[in-house]
Amino acid sequence: MLHTPLLSGVCNISNTNRNKSYTPFSYSALHLQTKIIMLIKTVNTMNVKKKFLALSCGLLIAASCCFAQTKNVAETVQILGERHAMVRIDTEKKYLLLPVEEKEEMAHVRVIKNNQLLKTFNLRLAVDKVDYFVPYEVEEGALLDITFMANSRSTGAINGFTCWKRMNYADQFDTKNVEKHRPAYHHTPAYGWMNDPNGMFYQDGVWHLFYQFNPYGSYWENMSWGHSTSTDLVHWEHQPVALEGDGLGTIFSGSCVIDTENTAGFGANAIVAFYTSARERQTQSIAYSTDGGKSFTKYERNPVLVSEAPDFRDPKVFWNAEAGFWNMILAVGQEMQIFSSPNLKDWTLESSFGREYGNHGGVWECPDLMKMPVEGTDKQKWMLICNINPGGPFGGSATQYFIGTFDGHTFTCESAPEVTKWMDYGKDHYATVTFYNAPEKRNVAIAWMSNWQYANQVPTRQFRSANSIARELGLFEYQGETYCSVRPAKEMDAARGAVISQPTDQCEIVVTLRGEAEITLRNAKGERLVMRYNPEEELFYMNRLQSGDVSFSDNFPTITMAPTYGTLKQLRIFVDKCSIEALDADGKMSMTNLVFPSEPYNKLTIKGKAKAKIYQIEKKN
Ligand code: FRU
Repeated sequence: MLHTPLLSGVCNISNTNRNKSYTPFSYSALHLQTKIIMLIKTVNTMNVKKKFLALSCGLLIAASCCFAQTKNVAETVQILGERHAMVRIDTEKKYLLLPVEEKEEMAHVRVIKNNQLLKTFNLRLAVDKVDYFVPYEVEEGALLDITFMANSRSTGAINGFTCWKRMNYADQFDTKNVEKHRPAYHHTPAYGWMNDPNGMFYQDGVWHLFYQFNPYGSYWENMSWGHSTSTDLVHWEHQPVALEGDGLGTIFSGSCVIDTENTAGFGANAIVAFYTSARERQTQSIAYSTDGGKSFTKYERNPVLVSEAPDFRDPKVFWNAEAGFWNMILAVGQEMQIFSSPNLKDWTLESSFGREYGNHGGVWECPDLMKMPVEGTDKQKWMLICNINPGGPFGGSATQYFIGTFDGHTFTCESAPEVTKWMDYGKDHYATVTFYNAPEKRNVAIAWMSNWQYANQVPTRQFRSANSIARELGLFEYQGETYCSVRPAKEMDAARGAVISQPTDQCEIVVTLRGEAEITLRNAKGERLVMRYNPEEELFYMNRLQSGDVSFSDNFPTITMAPTYGTLKQLRIFVDKCSIEALDADGKMSMTNLVFPSEPYNKLTIKGKAKAKIYQIEKKN
């Protein structure tokens, strides 16, 4: 995507109505006044008995209104201009629930306390109707200074905006799993928007997953690092937001390392996070945690790496044991830059990779670099992961990779420059990176299951986007080339529940193949997802043209196609409400696609030489 981050800090919005003067007035005072005038007019037309009754009712209503208005947010709204208002936080409750209307323009919110600017964020405050609420954790006594970014409105004056009536204080924010498309066993944010997985690491039995998060709406904005943890890669617990935007910018993607030897001086075993601070320019910053990733302190001398390049982001850092120093790989426009450091703070540019290699249909993003054994040989090779957007095999975003050698200074690709290798041949597999310090030297990867072509439009509300299941990466050889193998992480075996005879919306379908086959998932509405394996062509297809709601983007209805690099013997198909991941059990093919059926696919039909076994995947608790 083209990023034009709305910046942390002060935002200048030109006032097109400078010569109109606005007297601050209270929204609810105005409404009360109008209502009283109407009431007096009506009472004047009544007889004595009716007047008495009306007055008693009136008194009762007025008393209850006074009581209610001490809790009413609308009471504290001050209008300062046709696009400008202030709300004074006056509550002992924990949250101010902010109403969002997704079709609206952004409103810019500045949080001020004791005259100091505490933070800023942007959200689509409701003007006509409320799509959903997002929680703002309040600072008692703070002032929200709100400016609507739209230049003109057909919807009327600011004091009539729905948001003032519907904002309310609460001690709780309900994040129950309410949407029919919300996955059951894939990681999703509790609410709001998510894109790339960030900073993933494993320590003391816990998998930490951070992610690009918008806490103020289910669309891309206000980039922060959300945080979830798991002990089995299937059940995830939501943790507080780990990193929020600051004076250096919003928090884009990056990685974490464990500094066992205290090379940075933050303490032995400190978790050190690397992220991109995004403003007009993108710079690299660090934060560290001495409590195992629960809380982070930003390094006071950020940024640690700057550049003139407009796209300069997504640092992936790892300890290079052979070289004896840290390496960082960074996405810079359409190439990767490689840096080295003895202490995680001072970085030296070593080399660049990629100018003539692979696919250049878009910007290179979210890199990773790792050494892996080649299955069935005693060789070890390096794999460089390069997510690219657009330029994917079926449009939009996708993950390509390069195989070669790396000595801590230079990555050398072993394939011809024109060779492009894709890690997954679906449309919804992006920003794939691996966990740092995974046990048994495993290379465990997670992808973001969406595509920048339509990620902001998919038909969900309370949340937007899920991650893929955890996958195990490796290398295999086929006809003189080395490719990346992708298998479901072994933790997925443990997630299997009862064997069932027909699919549900949260199951794994294991298909044993003995030749050509067509596998169809369908529901009573006639919606269907059709997969086809052609052993002669060595190709696997997935057709989602009639899979359910495909109307939200012209780029969504697609037939995807993957090379199988030999014969497919067993397919593992993971179904979870809105996603289908088809992976070859031997790791030679993977395809990840979203689907939005209006009701679950509850029938499986197979034509050809194949048979299926279906496992229910247990619900999250
Ligand atoms: C990839 C990406 C990254 C960037 C992040 C911002 O999807 O564009 O390059 O850091 O998203 O949210």
